[in-house]
Amino acid sequence: MPAVLECAHLARSFGSLQAVDDVSLTIAPGETYGLLGPNGAGKTTTISMIAGLLTPSAGTVRVLGREITTAASTAKSAIGLVPQDIALYPDLSARENLRFFGRLQGMRGAELESRIDETLEVVGLRERGKDRIETYSGGMKRRANIAVGLLHSPTLLMLDEPTVGVDPQSRNSILEAIANLGTAGMAVLYTTHYMEEAERLCDRIGIIDDGRLIAEGTRAELVASLGTASRVTVRAEGPLDEWRESLAGLPGTQVHATADGVEITCPDPTGTVAAAFERAGRHGVTISGVDVATPDLESVFLHLTGKALRDE
Ligand SMILES: Nc1ncnc2c1ncn2[C@@H]1O[C@H](COP(=O)(O)OP(=O)(O)O)[C@@H](O)[C@H]1O
Ligand SMILES: [Mg+2]
Repeated sequence: MPAVLECAHLARSFGSLQAVDDVSLTIAPGETYGLLGPNGAGKTTTISMIAGLLTPSAGTVRVLGREITTAASTAKSAIGLVPQDIALYPDLSARENLRFFGRLQGMRGAELESRIDETLEVVGLRERGKDRIETYSGGMKRRANIAVGLLHSPTLLMLDEPTVGVDPQSRNSILEAIANLGTAGMAVLYTTHYMEEAERLCDRIGIIDDGRLIAEGTRAELVASLGTASRVTVRAEGPLDEWRESLAGLPGTQVHATADGVEITCPDPTGTVAAAFERAGRHGVTISGVDVATPDLESVFLHLTGKALRDE
């Protein structure tokens, strides 16, 4: 079976800015792949090239073995795109929006109506389908936006940060719906800057930063790449910079500044915590909290880039 998606050496620049730089990735049938990276990492630019909306500066995209270009192409019908911004007519109902977009995809009649029922069901909007989009909450609009991407039963569904700015309940129902699609055999490309979402949903995760895919694997593989057993988070107040620097020399550790302290990946958490307290005393820093856990994707990102992934 051919890969559903094959990107080879994809690149895109805007003037002197290299927004996407030599990205190669493959998605297998039924696989949910997460593209995880902070704002500005190049996620939307990558998805736009895969969808054939933006011409790459270099590289190729193949979907089911067929090359995608911006020129109209039948290969594109295998793709469903859920854009980052809501693309719906606010004064039409969800059903009317779906009918409109379905016709653009060449769907008609009873087939279209039954697909509309199915997709509204998938996103949990069956009861509200006849209501105008402008009466929806932010989370419901997002779900209707997802229904549009699903309508023509694509082989590959791409969702660009579909939970940004939605309430926790809608967020959960969106994540559940996407998990079900993966179970049903659809290949999914999911972009996010939320580590928890990538961990919860994705079979494999690519970490993207400054346009480059800097690591790729399952959650377990990515975490194992750190090779160290523990993640020590210390929250503190006072002159943090000198204290952080004093911790940097501990053997086998990686120290990263967080907004309110440090995160340290290390082989010896007990010794690390003791050193953090001892040096805090020396540098006039007050420690307000300590947490020891196994590394997560946030630790992987910190380790690779020296930056925090989450919104500050
Ligand atoms: N049309 C454009 N013109 C100029 N710069 C752009 C354009 N689109 C994106 N960029 C820049 O490219 C980089 C990657 O953007 P984007 O792909 O939107 O990142 P993400 O989706 O990960 O937040 C950013 O620095 C952004 O400002
Ligand atoms: Mg984006």
